[in-house]
Amino acid sequence: MNKLLEVKNLEGGYSNVKILNGIDLHVNEGEFVTIIGPNGCGKSTFLKVLFGLATHHNGTVLHGNEDVSGWRTDKLVNRGIAYVPQIDNVFPSLSVKENLQMGGVNLKTKELTACIERACNMFPDLKERMNDLSASLSGGERQMLAISRALISNPKFLLLDEPTAALSPKYQQEILANIDALRTEGITVLLVEQNARLSLARSDRGYIFSGGKVVYTGSAKSILDDPNIGDYFLGLQ
Ligand SMILES: Nc1ncnc2c1ncn2[C@@H]1O[C@H](COP(=O)(O)OP(=O)(O)OP(=O)(O)O)[C@@H](O)[C@H]1O
Ligand SMILES: [Mg+2]
Repeated sequence: MNKLLEVKNLEGGYSNVKILNGIDLHVNEGEFVTIIGPNGCGKSTFLKVLFGLATHHNGTVLHGNEDVSGWRTDKLVNRGIAYVPQIDNVFPSLSVKENLQMGGVNLKTKELTACIERACNMFPDLKERMNDLSASLSGGERQMLAISRALISNPKFLLLDEPTAALSPKYQQEILANIDALRTEGITVLLVEQNARLSLARSDRGYIFSGGKVVYTGSAKSILDDPNIGDYFLGLQ
């Protein structure tokens, strides 16, 4: 299998504050990989360092065969990587449509229209809300909008930070099913999730972080089935 992402001994954090203490992780093309772990262990920081939003200190990040360690966000977007942050992931004072348009400022009108159409097909709830202010959306609808906006750049690799946090069980299932379905469009997924069981049930593999390090990795099934790992980490959800 081809590795789309290979991270070796990654150290990073915020300016000179070190949060990640040597992460080794890879994602194969077409995979759905979930990262879980306790609050404050560096999951979001890891995604931010990968996407050029937090500081890379040491170690290597390979995307395809290219060393993209410490690259700027705009260059990573041009390579087909997109990221949905954990919080503040829509512009509340803009309408749903305007949020989507913001994600496609570089697209021609025709392409943008096609991308907005695709978002509407993926999340029919959004179609009804196109002209509403994003501030008026429910938590689930906001996540749908944030994911749709990330997809407008036509990424091949999607990084998602807790897309189902604080959502109702119905929305949790719907959003994870939609993320899973992206794989049929050739999109590889790396997800951070507190709803560990739900997400691992759809994943190929998982990583457990603790204290800025990987403390366990294996098939999603092995994590779900292991009573020791399961009881300790999955109980956090
Ligand atoms: N902008 C920042 N500047 C300095 N330290 C930060 C910043 N953001 C987060 N941290 C610290 O980095 C550590 C890891 O935080 P991070 O957000 O990566 O954890 P997490 O695993 O995503 O947690 P959660 O499950 O609560 O989302 C925490 O100690 C946090 O206080
Ligand atoms: Mg986080």
